[in-house]
Amino acid sequence: MEKRVESLLLLLLLFAAMNSSSSVGVNWGTMATHQLAAESVVEMLKDNGFDKVKLFEADERILEALRGTHIQVMLAIPNYMLEQMSLDSDAAASWVEANLTAYAYPGPGGLNIRYVAVGNEPFLTTYNGTYLQHTLPALKNVQEAINRFGLGSQVKATVPLNADVYNSPLSNPLPSAGDFRPEIKDLTLQIIEYLYSNDAPFVVNIYPFLSLYANTYFPIDYAFFDGYGKGLRDGNVIYTNVFDANYDTLVWSLTKAGYPDMKIIIGEVGWPTDGDKHANIQNAKKFNQGLIQHVLSGEGTPARKGTNIDVYLFSLIDEDAKSIDPGSFERHWGIFEFDGKPKYELDMSGNVDETKGLVAVQGVRYMVRRWCVLNPRVEKDMDKQELARNIDYACSLSDCTALGYGSSCNHLNVKGNASYAFNMYYQLKNQNEWDCDFSGLGMVTDNDPSDDKCRFPVMIADGNSLLLLHKKLVSILLAVVEGCIVFLLLVC
Ligand SMILES: *[C@@H]1O[C@H](CO)[C@@H](O)[C@H](O)[C@H]1NC(C)=O
Ligand SMILES: *[C@@H]1O[C@H](CO)[C@@H](O)[C@H](O)[C@H]1NC(C)=O
Ligand SMILES: *[C@@H]1O[C@H](CO)[C@@H](O)[C@H](O)[C@H]1NC(C)=O
Repeated sequence: MEKRVESLLLLLLLFAAMNSSSSVGVNWGTMATHQLAAESVVEMLKDNGFDKVKLFEADERILEALRGTHIQVMLAIPNYMLEQMSLDSDAAASWVEANLTAYAYPGPGGLNIRYVAVGNEPFLTTYNGTYLQHTLPALKNVQEAINRFGLGSQVKATVPLNADVYNSPLSNPLPSAGDFRPEIKDLTLQIIEYLYSNDAPFVVNIYPFLSLYANTYFPIDYAFFDGYGKGLRDGNVIYTNVFDANYDTLVWSLTKAGYPDMKIIIGEVGWPTDGDKHANIQNAKKFNQGLIQHVLSGEGTPARKGTNIDVYLFSLIDEDAKSIDPGSFERHWGIFEFDGKPKYELDMSGNVDETKGLVAVQGVRYMVRRWCVLNPRVEKDMDKQELARNIDYACSLSDCTALGYGSSCNHLNVKGNASYAFNMYYQLKNQNEWDCDFSGLGMVTDNDPSDDKCRFPVMIADGNSLLLLHKKLVSILLAVVEGCIVFLLLVC
């Protein structure tokens, strides 16, 4: 009897261990004017237990830094390469050879690349159909090249799509009424058929934040995971968050098309912290923590009960050079600031009881603690238009998204606005003295102009971090020791 209890316990422990091995991934984008050292970011990923990353292109710096880790990689081919990849199978093969086979091999120094993402949301309506005809042929050429290099069973090509490739009619906005958008349905189904035959996943990006941003009447609680009034009833099922409803709209669309068991991965999901009235630290933490707990709980969604939901958070680090066409929030999706500091506590294990904070990127080097601000001595009799021209100039080249309505620095007055704009430009330009002139209106100061809401950043220094220097020193020392041992062996 006791033996049986014991083995039951062991089995339970085993299941628990299997369960906890599931985890959430993260998107590592690099559209920033100043990059953290890739090696330091990889150390941070390991420190925080991230073991899946998605990269938007084959950035050599990052791939090299990931060598020898166990971190699983989804590696993307940017949209601008789709046409060439679709027309020329040799181009696809060259990409695979240079950017995949050079890294994805077993053993020391090899990378665990699992997926190649062919394009990124190529069917977005803002692209005006540019990529429609190239996506499927590119997908096929890339997968066939992967197969020819003998990696087909391990590396699956797929296409991350935006969630508006499917929807439910306005007249019946329930997940069970979902289907692929009529204008692109045939094409989407051809892609699905190809993916399915190759055992590759359907990858989709789901953004409850954008639902809220786009619709003034969207019930805010429905965007999060803490319950929403009576919920949305669909047959016998009640939806209390839009994430599940969106996911199940896809499940229903796939089921109607004959693929009820198609593997689904959420390629991007997250919440920004600035640039809109709903984009702040509290909401981002609430959303991401709720999401992590939900997807790791194993409860699944109403249409796919009891499954782990595979997600990649968007995103790892803020990117100050992203296009703000979609909105000012675009540069603020990071869980980490531009300098690798966590913005808020987030428990990646999904276990609320043992709240563990996030570890920052270590060994980050900053520029000198100084700022460029509006010179108080010229304030009185300055030309207002001259000032406006200088602010516009600074903001057209640097990131002033924190100044807008609903953002962290929107409370500043005209002078504060000017100082903020001047400083963002000055930091972007690596604190050159001549980049704080602004027709004589600017002045360098070592008094931090930040207040408790609005932070005036000091830029990070490009290039090597201290950690890297340490690593280099250690490896040089090791090489010297090794040399000495060889020398001793030879002599004796
Ligand atoms: C490898 O990927 C990089 C980054 O996307 C790209 O610039 C380069 O052209 C690719 N190499 C080949 C041979 O396609
Ligand atoms: C989209 O493309 C079509 C055909 O090339 C063109 O007529 C139309 O003006 C474009 N629309 C936008 C918004 O770019
Ligand atoms: C500061 O700049 C922002 C963004 O340009 C603007 O919305 C705001 O009205 C400005 N504030 C003042 C007091 O001029």
